[in-house]
Amino acid sequence: MTTNTSFADAAAMWNQRYEGESLLFGEAPNAYLAAQRSRLPRRGRALCVADGEGRNSVWLAEQGLQVDAFDIAERGVAKAQALAARHGVAVNFAVADCEALAWPEAQYDLIAAIFVQFADPAMRARLFAGMRRALKPGGLLVLQGYTPEQLKYRSGGPGRIDHLYTEAMLREAFAEDEIVELRCYEAELDEGPQHRGMAALAGLVARKR
Ligand SMILES: C[S@@+](CC[C@H](N)C(=O)[O-])C[C@H]1O[C@@H](n2cnc3c(N)ncnc32)[C@H](O)[C@@H]1O
Repeated sequence: MTTNTSFADAAAMWNQRYEGESLLFGEAPNAYLAAQRSRLPRRGRALCVADGEGRNSVWLAEQGLQVDAFDIAERGVAKAQALAARHGVAVNFAVADCEALAWPEAQYDLIAAIFVQFADPAMRARLFAGMRRALKPGGLLVLQGYTPEQLKYRSGGPGRIDHLYTEAMLREAFAEDEIVELRCYEAELDEGPQHRGMAALAGLVARKR
């Protein structure tokens, strides 16, 4: 695991945010991910990227998937482990920086990347490449983030335009995959105190060819 400055900064910032006992993004899974339920594989391996306090990975385990999940924040991972125990499911959690991860090749039937917009364009390219590498051919990616229109709202997001997703950007990034669904839309978020209110969102479901 790397110990460079950006790792230390991001880990420290997110550990501080996760300090309290309450769940910053709530206990329920992200609404866009939950809405994809009928498309998800019934069994197999899933990876939850930067899953914070574990709400998405716990829900995916409850759907019958064998779930790996990681996050840079140790405190988030500890809360995620407690959430999995409360729900009576097993999730293989790790503390990891996506920049230091040895992305395995063709291992996962599903990858969920929900609000991972800590990545600037260069980091995002590496992150998306890692996720594509780790998917099996035929595996599904579910990605949720904010569009630039989110800058007019105060309902979450990095507040930096170069971190946000546009439809054109996502189409280009996943041009080699089958785009099952790609939507830019506005909706009321109610996902914990950090993600509450009207929001400008992008949702992508892509199948690796
Ligand atoms: C907005 S939160 C979303 C958490 C979770 N995906 C959810 O939807 O509840 C972003 C997460 O990214 C994590 N993170 C930030 N930089 C990271 C990095 N370089 N590698 C892995 N995780 C990172 C943070 O610790 C935080 O948990």
